[in-house]
Formats: sequence, structure tokens, C-alpha cells
Amino acid sequence: MSPTKKTAPPSWRHYNFTTAGPVDDYLYSMLPKRDDVLAEMEEYATEHNIPIVGPAVARVLQQLALMINARTVFELGSAIGYSTIWWAQIVGENGRVTYTDGDSKNAERARGYFARAGVSKQITLHTGDALEFLSEQKEEFDIIFNDVDKEDYPRVLRLVAPRLRKGGLFITDNVLWSGRVAEKNPKESSTKAILEFNRKLASAPEFYTTILPIRDGLAVAYKK
Ligand SMILES: C[S@@+](CC[C@H](N)C(=O)[O-])C[C@H]1O[C@@H](n2cnc3c(N)ncnc32)[C@H](O)[C@@H]1O
Repeated sequence: MSPTKKTAPPSWRHYNFTTAGPVDDYLYSMLPKRDDVLAEMEEYATEHNIPIVGPAVARVLQQLALMINARTVFELGSAIGYSTIWWAQIVGENGRVTYTDGDSKNAERARGYFARAGVSKQITLHTGDALEFLSEQKEEFDIIFNDVDKEDYPRVLRLVAPRLRKGGLFITDNVLWSGRVAEKNPKESSTKAILEFNRKLASAPEFYTTILPIRDGLAVAYKK
């Protein structure tokens, strides 16, 4: 093989393609309009700097739930309940979504939004440590959604498999960490934790995993 051939990038890699900037604007312009409560939450999150998944990722979450006919979702890290409402809207009348957050002020605000969105019946609210609460669960969920502090990601991974049904999904937000996963010498504990998490999830034999590069990166792991 000639040296030039050896270093030539694969033709199927999109090195010059980016979903930031105008392409990102285009993606968001394609999304259906949200109802009043979700739109208000998006505004509140922007004003108060609350890191919600936003509507593009939320659509993916709902689509994944539809594809596996999910009825039960356990969410780790729910904040004001934005992603929780998207789950609740898709699990159906008899479905159930577990909200967890360590901040009781978030939970109070979320409770108000759930009532106004008409989804309170489907949601169980838990204020406290999400990992501890997950570790107490005896049932197998259809979906476990992980959006807690990034340092906790490796620990979340250790808890998930026994609490997810076969054919269920373990979904994790922020796995590209604003691009910091590609740093040569990452120093931040959060980046190191995400790198450890991604590596272990990718090689976990009980899961078939891909990373969707939407927004900040969404890991979708199918339990075999
Ligand atoms: C990124 S926000 C969640 C956003 C939410 N999933 C959404 O998209 O609407 C992370 C939340 O997780 C909570 N959190 C972080 N670590 C936690 C833990 N160990 N137990 C419970 N809540 C936690 C924080 O209080 C914060 O509100």
C-alpha cells in the first residue's frame, strides 16, 4: 500500500460536515410546534439556564419509545420535568414514568407542569438520589433514561442491566460532552467519567449500543 493511500481518509467519513450552525437551525426548524406547556418550559429553561434535552432529542426519545412500545420509563435526573412530559405523552394512558431529581424545588415546579400538561396520572415523582432509588427497584423497565451528573455515569451503568427488560433501551444524554470526549488529555472529572462510561457501555456484552450525534450526543443501548 502506498503511503498516500495509507493516510487517505475513508470516503464515507463526513469530515467537513457539521450539525452545528445553519444545519442545526435547519434541524430545529423542521420540528413540529410544541404545545403551550412544553414551549413555556423551553423558555423557562433558557432564562434560568436549566440543561433540558430540548425538542430535537425529545423527539428521538419519543420515537424510540414508540418503536419498542414502551410502557414504563425510569428517568435519572429530571430537573423541571421537560423530558418526563415527553415520555409521559408517549407511554399511553396506562403507562408509567418515574421522575427523579435531587432538588425539591425542581420537583415542585415539575409537579405544576405535569398537572397543566394533563400527565400527572402517569408520573411517579421521587425527590432524592436517583441512583439509590433505581437500586431499590425490583421491576424491569422498558426504558431507563440517564441524565444525572456526569461523574455518576459509570455507577449508573453498573445498576441498569438487571432493571431493564430484554429488548428494552438504556438511553444516555450528553455522551459527546460538547466535544470534550475528543480531547487529547482530558482533565475534567466529568469528561473522564463520560469516557469511561462510553468505553464500558460500548463493550458491554448485554447491550447493542450506538451513539447518535444529535445535539450533545445520545447513547442508545438495546438490551439483548
Ligand atoms: C440535565 S438535568 C435533567 C434534564 C431533564 N432530563 C430534561 O431533559 O428535561 C440534570 C438533573 O439531574 C439532577 N441530578 C443530578 N444528579 C442527580 C442524582 N444523583 N440524583 C438525583 N438527581 C440528580 C440535577 O438536580 C438536575 O436537575
